[in-house]
Amino acid sequence: MIQDLQWPLMANNINRADLDAVISHLRQDDPRLTHGTNVADFEREWSEWLGVRHSVMVNSGSSANLLSLTALRELHGPGEVIVPPLTWVSDIAAVLQCGFTPVFVDISPRSLGMDTDQVLKKLTAETRAVFLTHILGYNALEQRLLDELSARNIPLIEDACESHGATFRSGKVGSFGWQSNFSFYYAHHLSTIEGGMISTNDANLYQVLRMLRSHGMVRESSDESLRQTYRDRYPDLNPNFIFSFPAYNMRSTEIAGIIGRSQLPRLNANNAIRTRNLQLFLVNLDPAKYQTEFAVAGSSNYALTLVLRHADHELWTRVEEALLKHGVEFRRGLSGGGNQLRQPYLRRLFGDEFTKYPCVEHVHFHSAYIGNYPALPSEKILKLCGILNVLPAGK
Ligand SMILES: Cc1ncc(COP(=O)(O)O)c(C=O)c1O
Repeated sequence: MIQDLQWPLMANNINRADLDAVISHLRQDDPRLTHGTNVADFEREWSEWLGVRHSVMVNSGSSANLLSLTALRELHGPGEVIVPPLTWVSDIAAVLQCGFTPVFVDISPRSLGMDTDQVLKKLTAETRAVFLTHILGYNALEQRLLDELSARNIPLIEDACESHGATFRSGKVGSFGWQSNFSFYYAHHLSTIEGGMISTNDANLYQVLRMLRSHGMVRESSDESLRQTYRDRYPDLNPNFIFSFPAYNMRSTEIAGIIGRSQLPRLNANNAIRTRNLQLFLVNLDPAKYQTEFAVAGSSNYALTLVLRHADHELWTRVEEALLKHGVEFRRGLSGGGNQLRQPYLRRLFGDEFTKYPCVEHVHFHSAYIGNYPALPSEKILKLCGILNVLPAGK
């Protein structure tokens, strides 16, 4: 093994300044460690950065998914939710756990997000939401999708866990949906160790999310008139313990809030470097062997996307061997390991439905993502392109 590139999926995402911010908090006498003012400040700063009114911090992106689907069920009732088979497991798990029927739609090869024409074809009177995922920093929104959903009053939920800072037109992805989910897992653009956020412009939903995050407890609402309504309606209950929904504890720690606040000021600059890295990678790949035409406008990627031009199993085997040999960490299948419908938890329910999504099938077998972080040297990117370009195609 040469292992010469020494290229992990992520490096130095939580830096010395972030750790020092935590240490200075811990040096106080009796510092608060459960969610407090730092989490509240991070929520406000995140909302300002994103361009929305409200955000609710939770302990992971998967919690954000489950909470947003729980809110959908509480406010809109049961029915169908349109989702891609290329996404993270917790997107589809949340749909199932909240009692919705998932309706699957294939991806567009350029954006890797759901194909808009196919989404529009699958909208019915039973559709309770379109739950799209912006894959690995590529925007998946189109204006005609937004127009049709708003004309039909169908909520959009954006999973922007992998796409902090990506834009559509003049707004950041995650600012268009009824609610939008973010993950602050270590490998992502901004990391609070573990963590997540749900953002929205809907004041009523914001109060529901605040309660759902903390056991469904009414006192977690920041709206005094709402709290008063519950106290008046349930005079037999201790006002501190009124539970409006069967819910969860998905609160963050204060430590995660401190790290998030420390990281946010450098997020845009880091993303600009990541965007340059991706461009360098794509323009130097051989387009005869690798897909190079992604929806890069407004993209913000923490991973370089490597997708074969053709379904060439021999070439893919050589790609994996080369990545391993040169010490380049990768994840086959892009987001979530490829076609979720091939996973045991969905095969049990949907049998061989996975065969019906050819674009997802292609990336399942012939693609991978590779780490893209600010400290990644350009020379490594160029060297990797050289290694990949000389690999012979299969016969
Ligand atoms: C698209 C997407 N959604 C949700 C999640 C879940 O986030 P977390 O790992 O913070 O639970 C991930 C995880 O990486 C993801 O890639």
